[in-house]
Amino acid sequence: MIGRLNHVAIVVPDLASAAALYRDVLGADVSAPVPLPTHGVTTVFVTLPNSKIELLSPLGENSPVAAFLERHPAGGMHHLCYEVADILAARDTLKAAGARVLGSQEPTTGAHGKPVLFLHPKDFCGTLIELEQV
Ligand code: CO
Repeated sequence: MIGRLNHVAIVVPDLASAAALYRDVLGADVSAPVPLPTHGVTTVFVTLPNSKIELLSPLGENSPVAAFLERHPAGGMHHLCYEVADILAARDTLKAAGARVLGSQEPTTGAHGKPVLFLHPKDFCGTLIELEQV
């Protein structure tokens, strides 16, 4: 069901210094910061030859990544995003298998303008999983 690894998301306490680290030290292709108010984050996209890294920092009140940063002040890996061809079919298959879909269970528009869903980390080896329809 899952296809390519679309991205790995890393929450960081300082987006500018994290972007500089990936650009200047690791030599990666790094975007300008993109505010995503509906998701409560500002994102920097790091484009790698075979995937992407998303650097996330909290935006606004009640950011979903603020509590994560309190637990991991230096930052840390937040989620993996796998591509699926049909997000509703994937959701229904996973629900039938007993997996918990977070939030309203209806896809929202993700950072790349495509439908996304999140799956409970306790059902996936302790890792928050994002599905993105491509
Ligand atoms: Co993501």
